[in-house]
Amino acid sequence: HPHFAYRASDLFVEGVRVADLARRHGTPLFIYSKSSMLDALAAYQRGFAGRKSKICYAMKANSSLGVLQVFAQAGCGFDIVSGGELERVLAVGAQGKDIIFSGVGKTRAEMKRALDVGIGCFNVESEAELEVLNEVAAAAGKVAPVSIRVNPDVDPKTHPYISTGLKGNKFGIAHERTLAAYQRAASRKALRVVGIDCHIGSQITDESPYLDAMDRVLDLVQSIEAAGIPLRHIDFGGGLGISYDADQPPAADALWAKLFAKLDARGFGDREFMIEPGRSLVGNAGVCVTEVLYLKPGEHKNFCIVDAAMNDLPRPAMYQAFHMIEPVTRRSELATHYDVVGPVCESGDWIGRDRALAVQTGDMLAVMSAGAYCMSMASNYNTRGRAAEVLVEGEKSWLIRERETAADQMRAERLPT
Ligand code: LLP
Repeated sequence: HPHFAYRASDLFVEGVRVADLARRHGTPLFIYSKSSMLDALAAYQRGFAGRKSKICYAMKANSSLGVLQVFAQAGCGFDIVSGGELERVLAVGAQGKDIIFSGVGKTRAEMKRALDVGIGCFNVESEAELEVLNEVAAAAGKVAPVSIRVNPDVDPKTHPYISTGLKGNKFGIAHERTLAAYQRAASRKALRVVGIDCHIGSQITDESPYLDAMDRVLDLVQSIEAAGIPLRHIDFGGGLGISYDADQPPAADALWAKLFAKLDARGFGDREFMIEPGRSLVGNAGVCVTEVLYLKPGEHKNFCIVDAAMNDLPRPAMYQAFHMIEPVTRRSELATHYDVVGPVCESGDWIGRDRALAVQTGDMLAVMSAGAYCMSMASNYNTRGRAAEVLVEGEKSWLIRERETAADQMRAERLPT
């Protein structure tokens, strides 16, 4: 985490002392490094240099407006999965043509709104969805640009909840049904086939599933085009993993060099190439700062109870995910082993297990790699307000989200009279 480093005993995000931000804005507090996001983006841009390409940030990873603005200003497109995400990204000035719409359950209303703003492409996930989209577009007097998400049936070797390209899961159209689905799309008046897409899973740290998926997708491109349906773009989905601990994901630029070699070898090097990365653009650009409320020594285990919980950081509870936990100000005392847990009334509410920490009540800890799939998955469970967020660049910092109040949470509720 190059933009997260200690100076003497204090943790800094770029040029800003984490303890100062936490004192000013309170905890739990998410802090993001803009330079870290732009560095991650630059790795993809280097890999894509000299190609017709578009990087569509998968905003489900972190959909805070201040984060979206960073990517909009850097010239990214966006991958959305709901009408809500569409409104967010339009709010930071993105153009419809730079947005692609993924997801297995798009509603008619979402399709209509996306057509009205001139969406770049619908990534269609079933034949039934093709028919509904055709109807919605025809009724609106529009032609919907479509790509079909194919399921390449490769094993990404990641957590089962986040692997999506295997046969038995709900995503995409099966490899052997793909050609028929394209023929159907091509015959519909209100649809225009523009591309093909796939997505094999998330937090993939091994390059072989990507190489296998590319071979399988290119086989399909060949057979679809042989059937007289030209494809303008190939969208390879998201999914490059990040280092949470000792993981060694492939570098974006090196991996894409290998993938482009495959494209070139098969004569598809002239197509527009797209990807939808989420985690790898923001995951290691964020930390969640939390205060130690109580230390609770036990016979079998010691607990370190902090003010962040599973509603702020759902990944450990949901996927047994590992996040490093570092002191905001280092102490010289000897470390003790603790389970770091939140205040929520569930045993599943843990953030880290068996961590060696030299801490005292009132200290602050930084939960690392918290930029992706944390705030965007945050909930109000236990009527806990969502955390505040700060964006840092160099010596500057901006509060990009105020801490949610109890009144905010109750605003939409009504009592029966
Ligand atoms: N494109 C599609 C169609 C996707 O389904 C996803 C993620 C992405 C792109 C972005 O994938 P990424 O580059 O972030 O790996 N909440 C889980 C991750 C769920 C990923 C869902 N789909 C977690 O916290 O690990």
